[in-house]
Amino acid sequence: MNLFQVYPLFNINPVKAEGSFLWDDKGEKYLDFYGGHAVISIGHNHPHYQNKLKNQLEKISFYSNSVQNDLQTELAEKLGEISGYENYSLFLCNSGAEANENALKLASFHNGKKKVIYFSGSFHGRTSAAVSVTDNPKIVAPVNFSDRFIKCEWNNVAQLKQLLAENQGEISSVIIEGIQGVGGIILPTEEMIQALKKLCAENDVVLIMDEVQSGYGRSGKFFAHQEFDIQPDLITVAKGMGNGFPMGGVLISPKFKASNGLLGTTFGGNHLACAAGIAVLEVIKNENLIENSEKIGSYIESEIQNFNHIKSIRRRGLMIGIELDQPCAEIRSDLLTKHHVFTGNSNDANVLRILPSINITEKEADIFIGALKSILQN
Ligand SMILES: Cc1ncc(COP(=O)(O)O)c(C=O)c1O
Repeated sequence: MNLFQVYPLFNINPVKAEGSFLWDDKGEKYLDFYGGHAVISIGHNHPHYQNKLKNQLEKISFYSNSVQNDLQTELAEKLGEISGYENYSLFLCNSGAEANENALKLASFHNGKKKVIYFSGSFHGRTSAAVSVTDNPKIVAPVNFSDRFIKCEWNNVAQLKQLLAENQGEISSVIIEGIQGVGGIILPTEEMIQALKKLCAENDVVLIMDEVQSGYGRSGKFFAHQEFDIQPDLITVAKGMGNGFPMGGVLISPKFKASNGLLGTTFGGNHLACAAGIAVLEVIKNENLIENSEKIGSYIESEIQNFNHIKSIRRRGLMIGIELDQPCAEIRSDLLTKHHVFTGNSNDANVLRILPSINITEKEADIFIGALKSILQN
């Protein structure tokens, strides 16, 4: 059987990883400045993470959500403490799309309404409702398309007000990324966030904050939206949550009432996933990685800001968009092939997307800075 070819692949086959580095099957070493799409939060194969998973493997890996699972409780408590959302509850699932799918569904169960507002440039995943609120017609199949999903221009408060007025009483939720990742590291304005807070409360609309990419310390806060005075009704997480172990979750405000069977999953919150999730939170806390994210992020920004060809840098913590005066494809390819540094792209062809693990050191950052300098300054 062949693989169904949906990914353009680099000709690199990593067989080993440690910290911020990968090694391929030929023994070549690479710096990972992209974390496999923001997934590697605490570094590859962190010893505490490895030990937790190995120990858990020797005990129990999986049982369904029909039995007690103390690891889920421990994970929820630790997540509540580190994020400051102690009074929220946690629903565990397996991916970012699934987290958003459940959030959109929960909002609709809660207020009985059908329509959703999303933003231009958004990416919320590839499943049914999640892809319908993703601004990329190429990945929305006819089966997913519906006029119940309404697009609002990013940071356009006037349009948001107009859409709410035009669909008076029909909007169930608004979904927004803490920082747009796939869109090219695009930041929301304070005005937009405050308008969302006010308008959602006034119109019985659930505010869903997608922190799948921008959460877990990546932005220099636990959640990117914590830069502002706001508490969304639902917050979705995945990616960095398991440091490579597939898991996702929805943080749910106390105003939502749970009932048996309302949401569910076979694999979500299994023992191995919880062990991974707990290890990640312990490492973030014990190694002060949220502070490190801002420290190293601001170091990188200050070192590269005067390089030729850089038009602007959009950054929070270690979520960095480097806007070039030309498409970034060739530069990204040179970084990988000539300097062995993995970086990312985005829907904006000129933006190089940088998402290293948040325990990266200054010395490791210097490898990327030196490589970028040698390409852009020539
Ligand atoms: C902001 C955001 N939401 C949701 C998703 C979907 O996550 P997953 O691929 O785990 O389904 C992504 C993935 O890139 C994302 O960046």
